[in-house]
Amino acid sequence: MTTKEINIQYQEYTSIEELNAEDRELAQAAVEAMSGAYAPYSHFHVGAAVRLSTGKIVKGANQENAAFPSGLCAERTAMFAAGAKYPDKDMRSIAIAGGVYGKLGKHPATPCGACRQVMAQYQTKAGKPLSVIMVADGKIWKFEKVDDLLPMIFNSI
Ligand code: THU
Repeated sequence: MTTKEINIQYQEYTSIEELNAEDRELAQAAVEAMSGAYAPYSHFHVGAAVRLSTGKIVKGANQENAAFPSGLCAERTAMFAAGAKYPDKDMRSIAIAGGVYGKLGKHPATPCGACRQVMAQYQTKAGKPLSVIMVADGKIWKFEKVDDLLPMIFNSI
């Protein structure tokens, strides 16, 4: 028997201004996208912004529903919109921002398991790393690839 170890690295920043210009623009877009949240049940507003290989940014926000499972997270709203509208373009990066009643939280909003799986699929489709940026007030995390959020990604392709 051998014990194996998985090493995960991510960067922590203390403000959006510390990010490089592209990431900063995407992080800001995620914060802006929070205004599109429809969250009458949780009141937790989440915005997401996807950057395509062309540089184009596609935004999404969480959409809740009285039949709870029918709602959708911000990340998948953004990724599915990007996938449907620009099917031939790779997704290179996604930024996420969230907070109660639309006020950016102090702790980064981390994507749920289902959203990580969808990120993984688009990363595989692109054949290149998809970076994930989580934005909070005074704390930003950047993961260079989805593997760091979903080790041992399932991949049947
Ligand atoms: N939510 C997201 O939009 N993204 C996540 O990664 C986690 C949770 C949404 C779903 C629901 O509308 C609200 O946040 C509270 O769970």
